[in-house]
Amino acid sequence: MEIITAKSAGFCFGVKRAVDTVYDEINKGGKIYTYGDIIHNEEVVKDLGEKGVTVINSIYELKDLSEGTVVIRSHGISKEIYDILKAKENVRVVDATCPFVLKIHKIVEEESARGKNVIIIGDRDHPEVQGIMGFSSTPVTCIKTAEEAENYVPERGIPTVIVAQTTFNIHKFNNFVEILHKKCYDTTTVNTICNATEQRQTEAGEIASRADAMIVIGGRHSSNTRKLYEICSEKCADTRFIQTALDLNRDSLDGVNCVGITAGASTPNYIIEEVQKHVRGTDF
Ligand code: F3S
Repeated sequence: MEIITAKSAGFCFGVKRAVDTVYDEINKGGKIYTYGDIIHNEEVVKDLGEKGVTVINSIYELKDLSEGTVVIRSHGISKEIYDILKAKENVRVVDATCPFVLKIHKIVEEESARGKNVIIIGDRDHPEVQGIMGFSSTPVTCIKTAEEAENYVPERGIPTVIVAQTTFNIHKFNNFVEILHKKCYDTTTVNTICNATEQRQTEAGEIASRADAMIVIGGRHSSNTRKLYEICSEKCADTRFIQTALDLNRDSLDGVNCVGITAGASTPNYIIEEVQKHVRGTDF
C-alpha cells in the first residue's frame, strides 16, 4: 500500500513555534502560563495542563498574576495586554506571536501614527484581530462581509490603511479591497494573508485526487479541518474525517492501493504519526 502524507499537514510554522516554545519553557522549569489556550487542540492543552501549565483566560485573571512566565500564543495580543505584562516586575514574557502577525501590528502602529484610519479585513471576534486592533492609535473598522465593505463610510479627507487577518480568504479580500478603493481617499493596502492555509488546502486536494482513500485528521470543531474534508471529498469519494488513530477502522483499508493523509492546522505531529503507523498496520 502506498501512503502519501501531505508535507503541509498539521501545524503551520507559527503554531509549531508557539507550541514548541511552551514545551521548551516547561523544560526550563518555573511556573508557566499561556495567555489563552496555546492552540485549539484539546489533547495538547490537556497535556500542557498535566505538565503544570495554567491558561490565563481574561485580562482580569492577568491582573492578579504576580510571578511566573507567560507565553504569548501565535495569534498575538493587544498593546494594552503587553503593557500590563511589562509592568509586572516578576513576570517574564516569552512572545511566541507569529512573525507574520507581528508584521501586521507594526504596520497598524506605524500607519495609524501617521494619521491613517485602519481597516482590518477579518473577524472582529477573533483574538488575532482583537490584538491587531489594539495597536492602532486611530479609529479601526473590521470588515468581514461584502455588505460591510459596501456600507463603510470613510472619514472625509483622512487616508486609510487596509490590512487582513492572516487566515482570511484571499478572493474575498480582493473583492472587499476593490469595493473599498472606490470609496476611500488615499488608501494603502497591504495583503497580510498568510499562505500556510492555502498551501495546506491545495496539497490536500492534489493528494486526494491521486488517492483511493483519503484520511483527514483534526478536531471535531475545527473549521479548517472541515474545509480540508470538503476539498478532499470532492476529489476522493472515500474520504474519512478522524480525530485520532482510534477512530480509524484499519480493516476498512484492506485492498486499498493508495492512502492519502492530511491534517488540520491544530493537529500535532504525533497524532499524524500514529495514524500513519495504524494505516501501515503497525502498533501505535
Ligand atoms: Fe500560522 Fe503564522 Fe500563518 S500562525 S497561519 S504561519 S500567520
